[in-house]
Amino acid sequence: MERTLVLLKPDALQRGLIGRILARFEEKGLKLVGLKLRQFPRATFEAHYAVHKERPFYPKLVQYMTSGPVVALVLEGKDAIEVVRKLVGKTNSRQAEPGTIRGDFGMSFSNNLVHASDGADSAKLELSLFFPNADEIAPWTPATLGWLYNVEEELR
Ligand code: CMP
Repeated sequence: MERTLVLLKPDALQRGLIGRILARFEEKGLKLVGLKLRQFPRATFEAHYAVHKERPFYPKLVQYMTSGPVVALVLEGKDAIEVVRKLVGKTNSRQAEPGTIRGDFGMSFSNNLVHASDGADSAKLELSLFFPNADEIAPWTPATLGWLYNVEEELR
């Protein structure tokens, strides 16, 4: 099982889309093991978006992410990083496929509702930034696990 970090950005909160976006992940079968609503400090986003530091959109990006509360999620599942990235869709919401979260709910490149870790290394780093303490993660066993996955093939 793999874990990934998802951020529901200030535009998702302002537009009243938190419940509907969260439902997409739940309905897919991803397990929610971490959840918090918080206005995170600027330093958290400077670390989170350090790879974009030299890009022209970086100052506006940090300003936007610190403009209000963000919902941070930890989702768990088989190949969770790739599965979540596919559900979220392309970065530019106008180009994101219908059926994806950005494709269905957004029109913007920058205000694109959701962030999702793009690989194993970034997931590890981002999880440690937004969920630094082990007791912020709540492991549990879904009663549906044996129906979500084929136990013989996928849960060995
Ligand atoms: P995210 O998946 O959180 O990763 C980096 C973020 O920077 C991205 O979503 C957008 O919110 C923003 N972003 C990336 N590229 C651009 C761009 N060309 N113009 C404006 N914002 C961008």
